[in-house]
Amino acid sequence: MAIKFGRPIEMRDAPRRQAALASPPLDLATRLRRNRKAEWARRLVRENVLTTDDLIWPIFVVDGHQGRTPIASMPGVDRLTVDQAVRDAERAMKLDIPCIALFPYTDPSLRDEQGSEALNPDNLVCQSVRAIKKEFPDLGLLCDVALDPFTSHGHDGLIEDGRILNDETVAVLVRQALVQAEAGCDIIAPSDMMDGRVGALRAALDGAGFLDVQIMSYAAKYASAFYGPFRDAIGSAKTLTGDKRTYQMDSANSDEALREVELDIAEGADMVMVKPGMPYLDIVRRVKDTFAIPTFAYQVSGEYAMIAAAGGHGWIDGDRAMMESLLAFKRAGADGILTYFAPKAAERIKAQG
Ligand code: PBG
Repeated sequence: MAIKFGRPIEMRDAPRRQAALASPPLDLATRLRRNRKAEWARRLVRENVLTTDDLIWPIFVVDGHQGRTPIASMPGVDRLTVDQAVRDAERAMKLDIPCIALFPYTDPSLRDEQGSEALNPDNLVCQSVRAIKKEFPDLGLLCDVALDPFTSHGHDGLIEDGRILNDETVAVLVRQALVQAEAGCDIIAPSDMMDGRVGALRAALDGAGFLDVQIMSYAAKYASAFYGPFRDAIGSAKTLTGDKRTYQMDSANSDEALREVELDIAEGADMVMVKPGMPYLDIVRRVKDTFAIPTFAYQVSGEYAMIAAAGGHGWIDGDRAMMESLLAFKRAGADGILTYFAPKAAERIKAQG
């Protein structure tokens, strides 16, 4: 496209000439600003849109009654007793949020080396699933599969001599998932990053007759500093010994994410997830373009905390930053987002009509 400058101006038209000299018109055929000139015009050419259908709302459950305990590092997020989790499920239904993800704060006295409480059919997650399904059978429920909320050492798997055991852990995760499916969970979401767990879970679920229970694998999950507030929320921050870098991915890697996703799809994942979200939008885009499978991103606790805290201080417009960040996931190719902002964002979407 040629960009030409304005033609010479007639000498006899002095006032016009003066004005034109002050701002000589560019002879542009293409002016991208035309499509931005008014809100209606921007709406007309908008490429991506965030709806309540895109949201999965993670909540934290804790033992007790009628309780909502704020989580200091996640302003606006509470730990909920099961009865209150049911109230939030009601809120999700009213806001047309399709699915809730459940995470437990396990009492320290119930945590052990093996994470045995994960296999208790009456643990907090299973209680919550049953209580929510009883009142709201049409709300989707996602359960995380990993041992970290239940282990005394805060790792996602079994440990021997400081090493996280892969195959032994997978065997326990399978039992955990079956307990959750039995309680009525709709989506099993392994977040542990052990090798081979998706295939083992699929086989076990099918073997037990849970043919319709979906698997959303945390396929490309990175060892990240952005999980800090979540570990406060489930109470594993203080107990975690070492880090998770022998099983979660190295944040330097991108091709490896495609291999992880490819394997999980081959093993039977119905949906895949990239986690964390905002710093890994490049991965979301590559995964979506390469596999064209339902692709989700987790805007994790640290990402939430940054926006919520800066918004709370008035350093940024928190609500606008929230919406902008969520739309960015859509633009990157995500089909949906797990986000602690889900109810707030849904309220905003509804208010805008
Ligand atoms: C557990 C799990 C984690 C998150 C989801 N599932 C933490 C971790 O791997 O240490 C993080 C979620 C968040 O930070 O919001 N395996």
